[in-house]
Amino acid sequence: MANRYCSLVLVNSTKKRFMSTSNLKTVITESKKEIPIVKGLPLVGTMFSILAAGGGRKLHEYIDKRHQKYGSVFREKLGSVDAIWISNPLDMKLLFAQEGKFPKHILPEAWLLYNDTYGQKRGLYFMNGKEWWKYRQIFNKVMLKDLNVNFIKSYKVVINDLLNEWELSNGQVIPNLIADLYKISISFMVAHLVGRVYDDCKNDLSNDINCLAQCIQKVFQCTVKFTVIPAKTSKLLKLNIWNDFVIAVDNSIESANNLVSKLMSLNGDGLLNSVLNVHDIPIDMIKRLMIDFIIAAGDTTAYSTQWSLYTLGLHKSIQNNLRHSLLKTDFLECDYLNNILKEVLRMYPLAPFITRIPPSDIYLTDHKIPANSLVIMSMFTSSRNGKYFNSPNEFIPDRWNRLKNNKYNGVNEPFATLPYGFGARSCIGQKMAHVQMCLTLSECIKRYNIHTMQPVEIALDLITVPDDQINIKIHKL
Ligand code: HEM
Repeated sequence: MANRYCSLVLVNSTKKRFMSTSNLKTVITESKKEIPIVKGLPLVGTMFSILAAGGGRKLHEYIDKRHQKYGSVFREKLGSVDAIWISNPLDMKLLFAQEGKFPKHILPEAWLLYNDTYGQKRGLYFMNGKEWWKYRQIFNKVMLKDLNVNFIKSYKVVINDLLNEWELSNGQVIPNLIADLYKISISFMVAHLVGRVYDDCKNDLSNDINCLAQCIQKVFQCTVKFTVIPAKTSKLLKLNIWNDFVIAVDNSIESANNLVSKLMSLNGDGLLNSVLNVHDIPIDMIKRLMIDFIIAAGDTTAYSTQWSLYTLGLHKSIQNNLRHSLLKTDFLECDYLNNILKEVLRMYPLAPFITRIPPSDIYLTDHKIPANSLVIMSMFTSSRNGKYFNSPNEFIPDRWNRLKNNKYNGVNEPFATLPYGFGARSCIGQKMAHVQMCLTLSECIKRYNIHTMQPVEIALDLITVPDDQINIKIHKL
């Protein structure tokens, strides 16, 4: 019965990504298996076990071990988070297929508390229901469907400025790697918003961009501290970590607001102009959405680019192959570069967990999940699983080459890695992030040999970060 249900969903979900579940409920009426429950204490659940296993920074490893012990679906209450954890890509497909018309994810507690306390209204990531869908549709069109490539010239200005600065490091370790990558992530976003006028106004904007990059990095550093003492408790006890967080968020929203006001007055030909002219969106709402795009772009693109440079710096022969491929192919057409990025994001998924709260009961291969449960997809576990990827802990871009039968060379289930999520609520910035990272890597590799000084491990600070500073040297070719 469950198998019939599955194949029905899979056929449907590949044809059209979303489907109504109402017709499916008649297909299956009962689930086959109970969901294993990891037992814990009444209030804190298994919080002490995770603390003993290295704390929140090692959550990906802790959950990975749980999946090894309890299987691909289990329930565990970690502190205040009572969730059903899933790691089987087939179940993930089923979950996405039944996520509802207005999919819901959970948001960082500290951000919600800040928004509630100060009445702050935010952009797409924080919206829900019809309001979210209204704006999501507008931006799907201009950021995913009809993304034009006019902004590439401005992107090239951004990356050239950075590489000219890096050249001054003269063979030494790049001193502020992650801070520089935050700066270019925001500059790329600004270039995208204003289009071709970026080159003319970049000097006037550079202080605003630098200031905002520092603010966003500070917000990230403050948010991470709530993994030890939750935001609610910190606020209640008036702890410094809450006060520092509030100051950092105030500063980042204020400087993003100032920057967006300036960008709007420039009258460029970028994304900002296309939404201002075409859609009847109130100015306040445009600002809200743009501010959040800029903030969302900061951490994500900065850390993914850092992981890409790090990995290339460890693999000289892959660097050489890439350089060779880029002699023959434009960076946007280069399959090898594409494979490298897929492989980096598989091994270092920025979002190691993706969450959904389905509005009605949903049916996985063997389990029924009650409506309104928190379901967490363990992307780190699935993307490092030998069942889905041959030699999963090795960096092998060629695994993404297609064979004659159209299957991948070393990938048995591509759905086991979803760096940008999937479905209606997947990353709206994925296309632009991809182009930005392709350009950054291709310009670096055409000019330099990249050398990573020492390997690092993965840690979780909400997103996947290195457990130590990444030290990279570049040598001009
Ligand atoms: C390598 C870079 C990036 C990665 C790995 C990444 C990853 C993700 C993921 C996994 C989600 C889905 C969350 C969910 O399903 O609940 C997401 C959502 C989102 N991302 Fe990205 N992202 C990246 C870059 C960007 C950029 C450059 C922007 C700027 C526009 C952006 C804006 C957003 C927004 C606004 C959402 C929320 C969408 C919604 O709720 O409808 N991201 N991102």
